[in-house]
Amino acid sequence: MHNDIADILVSEKEIQEICVKLGKQITADYKDKQPIFVGLLKGCVPFMSDLARQVDLKFDMAYMSVSSYHGGIASSGDVKIKMDLDISVKDRDVLIVEDIVDTANTIVTIIDLLKHRGAKSVKMATLLDKPAGRLREYQPEYVGRVIPKEFVVGYGLDYDEYYRNLPYVGILKPEVYAKKS
Ligand code: PRP
Repeated sequence: MHNDIADILVSEKEIQEICVKLGKQITADYKDKQPIFVGLLKGCVPFMSDLARQVDLKFDMAYMSVSSYHGGIASSGDVKIKMDLDISVKDRDVLIVEDIVDTANTIVTIIDLLKHRGAKSVKMATLLDKPAGRLREYQPEYVGRVIPKEFVVGYGLDYDEYYRNLPYVGILKPEVYAKKS
């Protein structure tokens, strides 16, 4: 699996440092609140797990399964909710936890939905932000690392469902996805 990676973009050590830093900020910012952390499956899993353990607060953890990539390397723009929340967000402070913001189609759609359902506030923590990929205007509140316009995998991010278990974020060798197209 590691042989399919051209370069490591964010190392395991850097990811842990990001989680500690963002965890402290979130702990301070939500001090008097009891937020709901909403992880967007599947990509959020490692980051949700590591970030949550750096936040010294009582909070709810909930998940939604959404998808817009449907197997390729470009967003389809069509955000599908495959599994919905099992908790009400009405009058709650919500922090969405994501692995990456690229076009921002997913996050803008989900923020609109949660606000429509009556959330008091909706903010986001993302490990990676790829501003060069934006199709919609959006700036996340908590960003681990800004990355260039490369197709990245690992630490939750997949190509065709694989590589999510890499402990770092890496750039996939172009020949790996060229094989398929
Ligand atoms: C990825 C990622 C974000 C979204 C970001 O999810 O986890 O949810 O794409 O891209 P965008 O800003 O262009 O919308 P994906 O749809 O691949 O599902 P997954 O989390 O199950 O991999």
